[in-house]
Amino acid sequence: MRCFHFTNGERKPDGEDVVVSRSSARVSWARSLSVASSSVDTTRRSEFDSECSELGDSVGFLELLTQRRANDVRVFKFSELKAATKGFNRTLMIGEGGFGCVYRGVVKVAGDGDGDGGGDGGDRFLDVAIKQLDRNGFQGHKEWINEVNFLGVVNHPNLVKLVGYCAEDDERGIQRLLVYELMSNKSLEDHLLGRSKSPLSWMTRLRIAEGAARGLAYLHEEMDFQLIFRDFKTSNILLDEDFTPKLSDFGLARQGPAAGLTHVSTVVVGTVGYAAPEYVQTGRLTSKSDVWSFGVVLYELITGRRAVERNLPRNEQKLLEWVKPYISDSKKFHLIIDPRLEGDYPIKSVHKLAHLANKCLTKNPKSRPKMSEVVEMLGNIIDDVMPPQEEPEAQTETETETQVAEENEDGLGEEGCGVNYVRRVFEFKELVSLRNRSCGRLDWRYWTHGSR
Ligand SMILES: Nc1ncnc2c1ncn2[C@@H]1O[C@H](COP(=O)(O)OP(=O)(O)OP(=O)(O)O)[C@@H](O)[C@H]1O
Ligand SMILES: [Mg+2]
Repeated sequence: MRCFHFTNGERKPDGEDVVVSRSSARVSWARSLSVASSSVDTTRRSEFDSECSELGDSVGFLELLTQRRANDVRVFKFSELKAATKGFNRTLMIGEGGFGCVYRGVVKVAGDGDGDGGGDGGDRFLDVAIKQLDRNGFQGHKEWINEVNFLGVVNHPNLVKLVGYCAEDDERGIQRLLVYELMSNKSLEDHLLGRSKSPLSWMTRLRIAEGAARGLAYLHEEMDFQLIFRDFKTSNILLDEDFTPKLSDFGLARQGPAAGLTHVSTVVVGTVGYAAPEYVQTGRLTSKSDVWSFGVVLYELITGRRAVERNLPRNEQKLLEWVKPYISDSKKFHLIIDPRLEGDYPIKSVHKLAHLANKCLTKNPKSRPKMSEVVEMLGNIIDDVMPPQEEPEAQTETETETQVAEENEDGLGEEGCGVNYVRRVFEFKELVSLRNRSCGRLDWRYWTHGSR
């Protein structure tokens, strides 16, 4: 799904905390170029100025990023990337977004010297994903620069690694490419929307949600500056061979409000269906906008549906509007759960995830949880399904089965559509924890009605 820009111009000053100004954006642009590329044709700069009304980063911030650039980001020649993709052969194309096409390829990178990588002199060959900026694409050069700047600095197991980039200008035009580690299971969108043969299990969905939440928590809370991702969606959650999620696409990311300020005022960008209503309406951006988008993705994990799907009947096109009546009716709730799961889920766990999604989708951004709190809540939901190893293991399987049967007779399992392979473990945990694990009422009072 492609990103949108709601407006082309700048937002009018909105109190003291306006970060964007056209002059600073121009300076940032020039600085950005020197940060990201040493081979840019400066005569082309004016061509892109219109795109740069909101680079969103102060000169100081870009300098900070340059100083911090800890990650080993390599500069590739265009010819190398052309060879790596057999001339951008369509058979090697693995995806296409607003930026352009994504190809798989193999590149040579400097090895760690142990010589076991199959290359010469310690060099090794690496499977990569190569994104080529489409000259006519909707997204542009400032996103490319943002991506290089931010991914050169951030470092977390749930964020994709940028291997390198290419910026070359010649008589044929400009070439902007990004080279990432190849994520062998592609994106969450590819799996959720039926493009893969085997559907993601409920547990895998929970773990993907938890990992993605960790990535956002790192950006929001764990660095000495805050980054707001601004484009959190299933196609930007990539999955490695173990289905560990990694966030990709920092093109729209921007620095959070400076100390003492509540928000940044910006041009509204993002993807339809994911952007927080207050951000769309006012241009006021906070980290809680990402929390809203996270709530949308949780509902996509539950339902296996897109945030917005034009091919469905009108009343089902907007996911949040469609699920609303089902969420408030516990008897109908199971009807929204992804049919590809074929009933293979613990219903209480799904309820709890929906409850968490509702918290993220609270109308008032201040009432939404912080991402570190979301990580914690997801951890609890996962533990309920799959207790950690160190949990007491005193009971035998027979005892557990008896207790589950008794519990069901007591009516605790009455929501029980979708009883499955994890059900027994789930219920066992319920018994030993002696905690009140009421998943709570799913409350729609604070939801924005028909927000987008
Ligand atoms: N590092 C990667 N490894 C494997 N596949 C990737 C990688 N990066 C992107 N892809 C694939 O390419 C697709 C397109 O990615 P891209 O980021 O260009 O666009 P998008 O996220 O779908 O849309 P948008 O441009 O609006 O962000 C992804 O959905 C994914 O399938
Ligand atoms: Mg993407």
